[in-house]
Amino acid sequence: MDLGLSPEQREIQGLAREFAQAEIDPHAAAWDRECRFPAELFRKLGEVGLMGICVPEELGGAGAGFVAYVLALEELSRADAGVGVTVAVHTSAATLPIVAFGSAGQRERFVPPLARGETIGAFALTESDAGSDAASLRTRAARQDDGSWRIDGAKQWITNGGAAGTFILFARSDPQQPGARGISAFLLDAAHVRVDRHTEKLGLNSSSTVDVVLDGAEVPGDRLLHAEGRGFEVAMATLDGGRIGIAAQAVGIARAAYEVASAYALERRQFGQRIADFQAIQWKLADMATEIDAARLLVLRAAWRREQGLSHTVEGAQAKLFASEMARRQTAEAIQVLGGYGYTKEFPVERYYRDAKITEIYEGTSEIQRLVIARELLGLRERSPA
Ligand code: CAA
Repeated sequence: MDLGLSPEQREIQGLAREFAQAEIDPHAAAWDRECRFPAELFRKLGEVGLMGICVPEELGGAGAGFVAYVLALEELSRADAGVGVTVAVHTSAATLPIVAFGSAGQRERFVPPLARGETIGAFALTESDAGSDAASLRTRAARQDDGSWRIDGAKQWITNGGAAGTFILFARSDPQQPGARGISAFLLDAAHVRVDRHTEKLGLNSSSTVDVVLDGAEVPGDRLLHAEGRGFEVAMATLDGGRIGIAAQAVGIARAAYEVASAYALERRQFGQRIADFQAIQWKLADMATEIDAARLLVLRAAWRREQGLSHTVEGAQAKLFASEMARRQTAEAIQVLGGYGYTKEFPVERYYRDAKITEIYEGTSEIQRLVIARELLGLRERSPA
């Protein structure tokens, strides 16, 4: 068993760390305060190869593996979790499904601009009445006589939606089939959707979250991704990998909080000594460091399994469940270490706390992760005959 990183993985981790220190750290607080999506940053990330880390080289990516990708996500999220989710959704929820399920023509057309960061990708599954119960979605795709599709409906809380050039959108192509079986996936351009509303959020303010409307979008027949009626499978397989990325994001946020809390504890003096000399604070920092390491190991195991082509449904859900709950707990503890200062905007830990909360919600709530883990382990998921 080898827990070491390869030279290539270290190189990408180092590149992401340096990029984050130079290009993200100095601006993260302002982007949060101003709720600003830093569009120019993603071009720069593309130029250094970080918008398509695990995309094959022949499709414009860096050709590295999923482990290198999650290591980079941790670094980016340590600096700004909004940047982390933008890259995560762009890569694992929008680009990789085209690599995995697209036709040769779709791969050649859509993947290279995404992998180079010239276009941003989005994943449009959620609707106002279809959140955890994703298979109840109602956006309708009707096939036209000429083989094209007409899509009507509305999608909610679409990460990257205000900046995306390519959307993977899920719609019901067979109204006779309720649930998962009647859903298909489509590749849409920005021109197919109308951004209806920018969502105001508790945190993650540097990321774009919008509602989009489809008013009879005319979508060519060659935009169907994978087979008709098999879109839910695309969504679920995509989320299996995406959840590992969100877990890496949570580790990055918690690490940022740990770094601020430990530095503060070594500086701040009360009762005549550094607060780091009190056992109460030492135990908090020891627990933080231990839980961050445990979460990272779960992330790396799931990412490694995905990279090897092994099943990772359970491992990805476990990584996300543990890492997200850990990040919420430990960012709160970081505020506690800083006391009153932690509650102010003078230090970034209050931002980490706000940013951490969403990792327990998107790409499947903690309750859904527990459901996925339990039904896989107990063999409760029914599989219909193909
Ligand atoms: N891989 C491949 N196929 C899968 C699968 C997987 N991991 N899990 C299920 N499927 C297939 C099943 O085999 C089944 O197909 P058949 O009928 O052909 O057998 C089909 O999908 C339906 O499966 P289920 O019956 O299990 O579906 P369900 O309705 O019970 O739902 C669920 C399961 C796990 C609750 C699912 O709805 C779910 O994951 N919900 C959470 C939704 C979610 O995570 N949303 C995230 C939105 S995107 C986002 O958040 C991005 C962002 O902004 C950061």
